[in-house]
Amino acid sequence: MAGAQNIFPDAPVDVVIMAAGKGTRMKSKLPKVLHPLAGRALVQHVLDTAAALQARQVTLITGHGASEVEAAVARATVATGQFDLNFVRQEPQLGTGHAVQQALPVLRDDGIVVVLSGDVPLTQPDTLTQLIAACGGTRLALLTIDFADPTGYGRIVRAGDAVQAIVEQKDATPAQRQIKEVYSGIMAVPAVRLKKWLSRLDNKNAQAEYYLTDIVKFAVLDGVPVVAHKIHDAVQVAGVNSPVQLAELERAYQRRVALQLMEQGVRLADPARLDVRGSLSCAQDVFIDVNCVFEGQVSLGEGVKIGPNCFVKNVSIAAGAVIHPFTHIEGGAPGSKDAIEVGAGALIGPFARLRPGARLGEAVHIGNFVEVKNSTMAKGAKANHLAYLGDATVGARVNYGAGSITANYDGANKHRTIIEADVHIGSNCVLIAPLTIGAGGTVGGGSTLTKDTPPLALTVARARQVSLANWKRPSKK
Ligand code: UD1
Ligand code: MG
Repeated sequence: MAGAQNIFPDAPVDVVIMAAGKGTRMKSKLPKVLHPLAGRALVQHVLDTAAALQARQVTLITGHGASEVEAAVARATVATGQFDLNFVRQEPQLGTGHAVQQALPVLRDDGIVVVLSGDVPLTQPDTLTQLIAACGGTRLALLTIDFADPTGYGRIVRAGDAVQAIVEQKDATPAQRQIKEVYSGIMAVPAVRLKKWLSRLDNKNAQAEYYLTDIVKFAVLDGVPVVAHKIHDAVQVAGVNSPVQLAELERAYQRRVALQLMEQGVRLADPARLDVRGSLSCAQDVFIDVNCVFEGQVSLGEGVKIGPNCFVKNVSIAAGAVIHPFTHIEGGAPGSKDAIEVGAGALIGPFARLRPGARLGEAVHIGNFVEVKNSTMAKGAKANHLAYLGDATVGARVNYGAGSITANYDGANKHRTIIEADVHIGSNCVLIAPLTIGAGGTVGGGSTLTKDTPPLALTVARARQVSLANWKRPSKK
């Protein structure tokens, strides 16, 4: 029995992820496994699955774009880091058996090895848990599926019920090509057995490749039971080879998320027009209209309404707030000073822009074409039209007029503007920071302020109005 991390009774789980292939059909400079699905690289989904299995170690086999893939994966897993991560390179790529052979030096003898592919992102941890149980530390367990059109896949050849071999499409007899049950590319196998079988592989086949699938024959020869764990959900074993397949899996993923949200009671105007690229948690009676994109960590309180066509990233929105259409909310890292908060009952948008560090209190109103960055607004403060608040501290009930801006940047440094409670700022004001507007004060429209103002005062800073009676405009000579 290994350490506390082992959730499987039979042996610790060590995951091998094959990701050396070229991905020619993506027609992209980016290595295939780094293409994003729901905002995360394909291979990151597979690593997250390994983490859900509480794998002891994960070995990533890279080849094409190896250094780029390794760098991206290392960056992403630093934060999570639940397992030992090894990178192994396969150069040149001589087949799936050859790929796994490269991992042998780092594989321990006491584990169950689960072989996954970096381009098969949506396998459910539950499915793999069942596959690992089918292996049980002694058997060779293959994940299989029936396809109406099995063209291109390795066929599961049985004698009676017992699995005899996997035969690749190009090596299959016409009779074998009729078999609908195919190998998914995913197996669970005791490490000690795997090591022995891999040393016996050759490449005497139609593709002159070292086939991982040939180990089935060796298991049969050695009298080791081979079990096929058959599933019915093709999405879980679907690989990405082309932009079309990537888009299809993206929709499959998003449909899964939409169904989960609706099961929790979230009302979606259209489950086919929702994109969650991160985590979205919703309290009771949340409504989300069409074409909204959620990124990072978003939490929506009870009764929150999100209008159509909103982009919503890294924000916590409290109960009863309404986000009107076309609002853009882009918070920084969750928990950092750049995260965004929207208070209970706040009204945001349409066409509002909340940038990193916007912290809006209860019942704050932000209207159209208003941008808020690194600013706090206390309860009941309003900026309803065409305005900019940057590096500002805005007190309760402040009314911030149309077209007003904080001039927070002097070309070298940023400065703060403090607007105390109950201030009214007229339209089209420029508040040149650092600056404090005293509580209860009023600033006349069109003012450019450079000095602090006293509480309760009316401050006007613009040219005094003059009228010249009966003014005659010049006329053309
Ligand atoms: C393989 C299986 C086939 C199965 C199919 C499921 C073999 C011999 N055949 O087919 O039975 O039905 O998967 O999709 O295993 N890779 C490497 N190095 C290599 C070759 C491949 O890392 O030298 C990686 C690829 O990047 C990919 C995965 O292994 O992630 C599978 O390779 P692919 O060529 O798609 O599978 P097939 O060999 O066609
Ligand atoms: Mg191949």
